[in-house]
Amino acid sequence: RTVYVNGNYVPENEASVSIFDRAFLFADGVYEVTSVLDGKLIDFHGHIARLERSLKELGINYPVDKDALLEIHRELIRKNDLVEGMIYLQVSRGAAADRDFMFPSADVKPTIVLFTQSKSLVKSPAAERGLKVASFPDQRWRRCDIKTVQLLYSSLVKNEAAKKGADDAWLVLDGKVTEGSSNNAYIVDENNTIITRELSNDILHGITRKAILQCAAELDLKVEERAFSIAEAQKAKEAFITSASSFVYPVIEIDGAKIGDGVPGPIAKRLREIYIEANR
Ligand code: PDD
Repeated sequence: RTVYVNGNYVPENEASVSIFDRAFLFADGVYEVTSVLDGKLIDFHGHIARLERSLKELGINYPVDKDALLEIHRELIRKNDLVEGMIYLQVSRGAAADRDFMFPSADVKPTIVLFTQSKSLVKSPAAERGLKVASFPDQRWRRCDIKTVQLLYSSLVKNEAAKKGADDAWLVLDGKVTEGSSNNAYIVDENNTIITRELSNDILHGITRKAILQCAAELDLKVEERAFSIAEAQKAKEAFITSASSFVYPVIEIDGAKIGDGVPGPIAKRLREIYIEANR
């Protein structure tokens, strides 16, 4: 693979970043994952707008040049013949001279890294089968609206979920689901109303979430943006998740309880189809 590091396209085994990089020492960095379908980027501008916001919230001094970033994404797609998959972009506060909790001076340049990852997005066993999820307390920091590389808890609970025979974790704060380990969470009630937590600092403002809520409006489905509990989710007609790397995956089981008939529901399937149609 050819990757991009601080202005250079290099083979992945020649790419390097300082051990003093603040992403490495302090998880002091932000990222975006943009999917690529038929060699084309999905929602590039949405991802870059969110990147800009994450950088601003943390005071990382990286002037976002949308056109330049678009060109880097496209060049990586070309160099790696990427047809279907993702582009990962990370910006950290950079490498200071020493390990220091204080931010480095303004002359320390941020570190920027991009790489591609190929993945079959449209044909997906997870989409056909549906996911089993297990719930865990949401013990992440309380700025989940910022897309930082501080992903240890999310990674931990995904592994704990796997130990329980589940595919993913849903996180619960004060009795209500916030989101999945790396996706937004939804249920569908008996009136076919889609319910998903409202935007706040407790969840990532998903780019796919926004697109899927638009698809729902086009299908004349009602949407309620509010929190729901695991008990309510277990009684729902359907459940599903969304993210750039999954599009829409149905959820068929929550903490061992089958959702509906325990098979992917029609609304999740339809939303997945129209999202894919809209992006190819
Ligand atoms: N995850 N919530 C969390 C905690 C996430 O990490 C993500 C994305 C989402 C969905 O956001 P979007 O629709 O913009 O991808 C929600 C990415 C894909 C990842 O970490 O791989």
